[in-house]
Amino acid sequence: MNDRLLRGRTLSFVRRPEARDDHASYVFEEDGALLLADGRIMAAGSYDEVLGKAPAGVEVIDHRPHLLMAGFIDPHIHFPQMQVTASYAANLLEWLNTYTFVEEQRFADLAHAERFATLFFDELLRNGTTTAAAYCSVHKGSADAYFAEAARRNLLMIGGKVMMDRNAPEALTDTARSGYDDTKSVISDWHGRARNNVAITPRFAITSTPAQLEAAGALAREHPDLLIQTHLSENDAEIAYTLELYPEATDYTDIYSRYGLLTDKALLGHAIHLSDREMAAIAEADAVAVHCPTSNLFLGSGLFDLQRIRRSGVRTAMATDIGGGSSYSMLRTLDEAYKIQQLRGFRVSPLESFWQATRGNGEALGLAGRIGTLEPGTDADIIALDAAATPAMAIRMETVTTLEEELFLLQTLGDDRSISKVYVAGEPVSTE
Ligand code: GUN
Ligand code: ZN
Repeated sequence: MNDRLLRGRTLSFVRRPEARDDHASYVFEEDGALLLADGRIMAAGSYDEVLGKAPAGVEVIDHRPHLLMAGFIDPHIHFPQMQVTASYAANLLEWLNTYTFVEEQRFADLAHAERFATLFFDELLRNGTTTAAAYCSVHKGSADAYFAEAARRNLLMIGGKVMMDRNAPEALTDTARSGYDDTKSVISDWHGRARNNVAITPRFAITSTPAQLEAAGALAREHPDLLIQTHLSENDAEIAYTLELYPEATDYTDIYSRYGLLTDKALLGHAIHLSDREMAAIAEADAVAVHCPTSNLFLGSGLFDLQRIRRSGVRTAMATDIGGGSSYSMLRTLDEAYKIQQLRGFRVSPLESFWQATRGNGEALGLAGRIGTLEPGTDADIIALDAAATPAMAIRMETVTTLEEELFLLQTLGDDRSISKVYVAGEPVSTE
């Protein structure tokens, strides 16, 4: 791998912005540069400074006037749901039963899973997403296809074979035993191979028997370094049914807690309708509430209360949740999250939004030292963002005078067309 110097307007966050003008929360260079070698960022700073550290004759790629940022991170997405997106349903459970559980059965066919692994990563990269945490299907082969393709492209991806042993079609269920065994195989085959990370993935309490949640908890104890991903408290009917299935539990969150799944490795998708007790328990466990704005709007699930969840001390992340979600773009996702908070009377700053999509989501995945920033020593997963990518954006851009305004324009009007270049582990990727 050759050394490469990227010149551009570099932006990288050092911590969560606490106010709309929290300039100490980021590092920005109007004429900045990144020196890449061996898949890593070796130096970052002003162009003159970084050029001084570069080997003679280094290849220079000039991205000005575009912004160079860490690649986006999507911490909750479903790999087998590319053909579920845009399905017309009244609510979550109807959507799952009518479309999702039908479509996911097709991933029993390895050739189908392999075809979709290619399409999936193509689409993520077109949208500037260089890391995702994905649910595969119940079939071990779907995880094999997912991780093999991620390895082939040298992508840092997280994924898990979904564990589900009830309340779904026969062809889409495992058992407590086989779900455990298959997850063990996926871990030994793929965790730490290339840049892959495996997550323990019980779908949600409705589709797991107590015996299966017990098995998932055993996996979490045996592999304490692995992330755990599941769904929590997304929809009123879902919550009511869940509590019928687990009558001994105090509430939905308590179910995961009883089986050892409420830990600082847990990524809890949605987490919308939580009691104060649940918020406190999640904060105490240091688990992450993953907000999925386009999905919550599309399925009519509810309006995530970011302020309340923050006040409770719960860590947050933000994700697309394709195929309940309606866009692969983290820019579109930030925009819809902004609008949800507007409806709640709370205005999220553009700096905070872009922190969340990069460093914030990286921290939520426990990968802040590797991805999500432009800091030297981290992996060179980088995107170039064009805030004038469409005629409407270009016209609005004429009046933009600050970085915050530019970010807000990107999140409000931007989408895949604003991703002008993507680098994965230091190498340019084609997103044609
Ligand atoms: N709850 C259980 N499975 C799913 C899923 O696939 N999508 C969403 N949005 N919620 C779920
Ligand atoms: Zn989901």
